[in-house]
Amino acid sequence: MKNIAVLTSGGDAPGMNAAIRAVVRMGIISGFNVFGVRKGFRGLINGDFEKMNESSVSDIIQRGGTILQTARSEEFKTEEGQDKAAKMAKIFDIDGLVVIGGDGSFAGAKRLSEKGVACIGVPGTIDNDLAYTDYSIGFDTAVNNVLDAINRIRDTSSSHERASIIEVMGRYSGDIALYAGLAGGAEGIIVPEMGFELDDICRLLIERKNKGKLHSIIILAEGAGDAKQLEQQIMENVDIEVRSTILGYIQRGGSTTAFDRILASRLGARAVELLAEGKSSRVVGIRDNKLIDMEIGEALSMKKVIPRELYELAIKLQ
Ligand code: F6P
Repeated sequence: MKNIAVLTSGGDAPGMNAAIRAVVRMGIISGFNVFGVRKGFRGLINGDFEKMNESSVSDIIQRGGTILQTARSEEFKTEEGQDKAAKMAKIFDIDGLVVIGGDGSFAGAKRLSEKGVACIGVPGTIDNDLAYTDYSIGFDTAVNNVLDAINRIRDTSSSHERASIIEVMGRYSGDIALYAGLAGGAEGIIVPEMGFELDDICRLLIERKNKGKLHSIIILAEGAGDAKQLEQQIMENVDIEVRSTILGYIQRGGSTTAFDRILASRLGARAVELLAEGKSSRVVGIRDNKLIDMEIGEALSMKKVIPRELYELAIKLQ
């Protein structure tokens, strides 16, 4: 194997740049020519490659987003698109590919591996919805972005004696809501994995008010409901002013945390080591602070569950 490539795919996540940097620098150290593929699998289909050197990845470790850009390619979901991508890898003599992304990107990497392009997946998604790894790159930065927002919203919320609903991302996963809610001392945390009763939320808000609390913060995972709708429902039931904020893409941007930079550096470097060992169709991850790797299909078949102990603790401390 002489030439390897790296791409980022699906929603961008802070730390993807740190992972690209690690792949490029570790790739060069290991004696590979390293190519960057622009715009994910779409770029692979179109042969949108650039040769990378050490300085191509200078000054990016701190930056959110991805210098290689990303896309959600409809064409690559088809057999024809995957064949085109595999053909393009052959034309450019790319023997190994590091795919940084989430579950959809990993499914694509698996298909490409079956078509003869050795692929290693690196988990990059703010959602932290991959069961095989304790953390995915971008999650910690997203949680810290939410925490920053909680602090700001708390100031205005207590000044007006309002309850605030803060809707966060995560797709079908409640991890961002849970971690940010626990770290931010939220009064309520609503996640798709656990569901919720409107009456419980109303009772909680009244109890807090009766205890003299000036404000309440409820963190709502996007997969568990709609902030505006919940705001209306609460105000129909209790005499408390409620305001909702949908944080949206603000969670996905900004400077990457130390945790994500270190995680991305470790995982990116390990992915290259696996390619150098002749491995394919595997994903790298972290469990109990130790790097692991696993066959892609096996990793994708694992069912993500909410960390119950953290959820129960968060509820107790509310
Ligand atoms: O998967 C990452 C994520 O940010 C989810 O949390 C969110 O639901 C989705 O992507 C948004 O996707 P898009 O960038 O296509 O709007």
